[in-house]
Amino acid sequence: MSLTGKKLILGVTGSIAAYKAIYLVRRLIEKGAQVTVVMTRGATEFVTPLPFQVFSGKKVHIQMFNPEEGHEISHLYHSRWADAIIVAPATANIIGKMASGIGDDLLSSILLAATSPVVMAPAMDEEMYNNPIVQKNISVLEKMGVHFIGPVEGSLASGVTGIGRMIEPDEIVTYMEDLLYENKDLEDLVVIVTAGPTREPLDPVRYISNRSSGKMGYAIAQVAQKRGARVILISGPVSLKPPPGVECIRVNTTEEMLQAVVDRLLEAHVLIMAAAVADFRPETYKSYKLKKEEIKGIQLIPNPDILQEARKIKDNMLIVGFAAETGDLLTKAKEKLYNKRLDLIVANDISLPGSGFEVDTNKVSILDRSGNIKEYPLMDKVDVAEKVLDHIREFIKGEK
Ligand code: PMT
Repeated sequence: MSLTGKKLILGVTGSIAAYKAIYLVRRLIEKGAQVTVVMTRGATEFVTPLPFQVFSGKKVHIQMFNPEEGHEISHLYHSRWADAIIVAPATANIIGKMASGIGDDLLSSILLAATSPVVMAPAMDEEMYNNPIVQKNISVLEKMGVHFIGPVEGSLASGVTGIGRMIEPDEIVTYMEDLLYENKDLEDLVVIVTAGPTREPLDPVRYISNRSSGKMGYAIAQVAQKRGARVILISGPVSLKPPPGVECIRVNTTEEMLQAVVDRLLEAHVLIMAAAVADFRPETYKSYKLKKEEIKGIQLIPNPDILQEARKIKDNMLIVGFAAETGDLLTKAKEKLYNKRLDLIVANDISLPGSGFEVDTNKVSILDRSGNIKEYPLMDKVDVAEKVLDHIREFIKGEK
């Protein structure tokens, strides 16, 4: 992906992390963006405008009123020019000003006049970040649609370790690429994606589950959102953060996942079941910790099949399943395609190194009911997600 031709304002505020913004400008320019840097007075205490000017190839703006520049209303000129505004590092001060509607310098006035997306990368000490008023300001801005990325944990300028470090510039660049991605070919769709494992409890400490990390499903949710779909992510217990802009419903058991899918099915056009659902659950749950000899006698009963239940409820929707197999991949995937009355199935050979559970990559084949099979090489799960969604788009086009 790239940022070719994108016009970005980079607001730099007074934090020790301001030095990282120099590298950020360089990376944005390498990705093809045009960058105008606006610094607050505070920022100039930490770094000078010169390196920003060198890397952006443009004059750095600091003053609100600068008649020599020829733009009488400078903040309006800049905010209208920008495809997006990044504030990195963003201090508690600039966050507070924007949340309170204060525009007392060039950057805060540009933010108040902004009509394009605003992305803030906060950087401050942990105590400041955790201050309820700062948290309230962040949540006010989030509700208005301002994007927050980071901060992360690490060593802080005060010498302590905690949350408050600005997220790394490369992650900001990736975030901007996703945000400004222009292929909105799924704009008209509501997509339910399931991800992660389900957990079937035996007693208060034990459960039956599997190794699914949620990476495949979360990648699909992220890419579908980026391509314009409204995404409802129904997630089993995983340690991943839901992608920004995606509604996430957390569940534990298969029955909870089924209920969440059923609750949202009517509003959706597409269901993609990337979750690794436990096929069986213990017949009974004991509220005390089972003794070893009791575990031997545990009876398992089958869980409902979510895909089959979904098809019974909604005949006219596009339903995509996954098949995780260790052998006879295509034969078994075809069986699931027909038995579960799916439109498409994504078959992953989980016996191959780098494919399937937990890893960042996957090797898949996508099968449809007309007998078409498309095999893909080992790819990053984000690229697999793009392919799965390409097939969905094509399928829907063919139906129209
Ligand atoms: O989460 P990751 O670590 O990134 O790993 C990704 C993955 C390997 C889990 C994913 O790519 C994948 O293959 N998910 C489906 C795994 C699976 O459960 O496959 P299956 O062959 O057992 O089930 C076939 C299909 O039926 C799946 O879409 C499954 O969600 C669905 N199913 C299964 C059981 C059940 N009771 N109800 C269902 O709907």
